[in-house]
Amino acid sequence: MTTTDQTTPQQNEARAAGRNLPEGFVLGSATASYQVEGAAHEDGRGPSIWDTFSGTPGKTWNGDTGDVACDHYHRLEEDLDLMAWLGLDAYRFSIAWPRIQPTGRGPANERGLDFYDRLVDGLLARGIRPVATLYHWDLPQALEDGGGWPLRETALAFADYAAIVGRRLGDRVGMWTTLNEPWCSAYLGYASGAHAPGRTEPAAALAAVHHLNLAHGLGLQALRDVVTGDPDYSATLNLHVIRPEGETGAEAVRQTDGLANRVFLQPMIEGGYPADVIADTSGLTDWSFVRDGDDVVIRQPIDVLGVNYYSTQRVRLWDGVSERQQADGHKDVGHSPWPGADRVEFLPQPGPYTDMGWNIDPGGLEELLVRLHRSYPELPLMVTENGAAFPDEVVEDADRAGGRAVHDDDRIAYVRDHLAACNRAVEQGVDLRGYFVWSLMDNFEWGYGYSKRFGIVRVDYDTLERIPKDSAFWFAELTRARTDSA
Ligand code: NOJ
Repeated sequence: MTTTDQTTPQQNEARAAGRNLPEGFVLGSATASYQVEGAAHEDGRGPSIWDTFSGTPGKTWNGDTGDVACDHYHRLEEDLDLMAWLGLDAYRFSIAWPRIQPTGRGPANERGLDFYDRLVDGLLARGIRPVATLYHWDLPQALEDGGGWPLRETALAFADYAAIVGRRLGDRVGMWTTLNEPWCSAYLGYASGAHAPGRTEPAAALAAVHHLNLAHGLGLQALRDVVTGDPDYSATLNLHVIRPEGETGAEAVRQTDGLANRVFLQPMIEGGYPADVIADTSGLTDWSFVRDGDDVVIRQPIDVLGVNYYSTQRVRLWDGVSERQQADGHKDVGHSPWPGADRVEFLPQPGPYTDMGWNIDPGGLEELLVRLHRSYPELPLMVTENGAAFPDEVVEDADRAGGRAVHDDDRIAYVRDHLAACNRAVEQGVDLRGYFVWSLMDNFEWGYGYSKRFGIVRVDYDTLERIPKDSAFWFAELTRARTDSA
């Protein structure tokens, strides 16, 4: 991969942004197994709930599936070289549970483990720190057939899976993340049905919340038992920045903040569930799935909290008279992803917007990081995802390798402004350790299929060719600026 020698204003700006970051700040990019790997039926991989869901007509845009995705499984070396060219300090990827245990239980599938072995070694050979997420939504279908996340057994199975992976990769992975965005797994998977397994059972969604939390705790225990290196342990949450509108706003924020944020933060960091969330949801469940001692299991020490941030929300209580607005930023499938918060109304946010229709609000990231730091001053934070989908255009460009370019100034501005928000948070004392751009490359955006492009590298889905967008060149400049000034 070549860059031109000429320094553009954008490159200068990237370098300036790089020099502003605190010392030791980790710059990385992120992906997830089902979104990039493809090779869905190879080397003994079993089916996951996303294979089933995306294979069901009407569930994803255009009927898109992750069967081929970016074909990362077969293009590993090329993608690793791309990461090296980008100058990444760290790469955040996820491990596909059904590659390791095709039915979610039983002995390890060695060929599945081999792939992640090669990935981890390839990263280390290039000086890139491996950041591994154990669960980024591809539950083995057999476990869902047995009841899925609403059942305790799934959390117990997760601990066995964590131990298998920890034993094999635990000498080399630099940071372990148990779960990615359990909010999505529980509420989009079991309440709104917008994500796999597509169930619309609000009470089951709350049981899923608990068993995901329990899986986090059990998974950490299992990892710590077998890991021989000295990694950081973490979980990644998509914490919501929810702002109040009008007189009823504060109450609407309390309810949604409880369901989206505190129902994960409190058990993981302080222990136990927020009493108001239990009260708000009492019409749906009595929470009897929580057993004595679960609170202690869930509240395992973590070294870092991963935060995924994209946009903000604004809420009030619906008065029952006006036409109700439901702009909550998630694929509207007619069912609410908010069990027990029946009267909450999500108001459209002022723009500008990304291609997802999500509002762009870097100040929300600063606010979130500062809030977390105030609540948990001892807990280091990491932005494990931030980025934007935009309707990119490919243009001819003789200066670029391959003769094609994507001039995505909008994405550069998004990343630049959110990094600036990170800096402002750091200036306020937040112990922020790093930032991962979502995503390394365009990929399967769940219910939206391949229609939304988040990558800093474009994937041509006809040829599977990788085309670094301007934002990739910008990011490479950003990482280089720090190395140069070190
Ligand atoms: C959150 C998820 O972790 C990731 O899988 C998804 O593609 C991005 N955000 C963008 O929606």
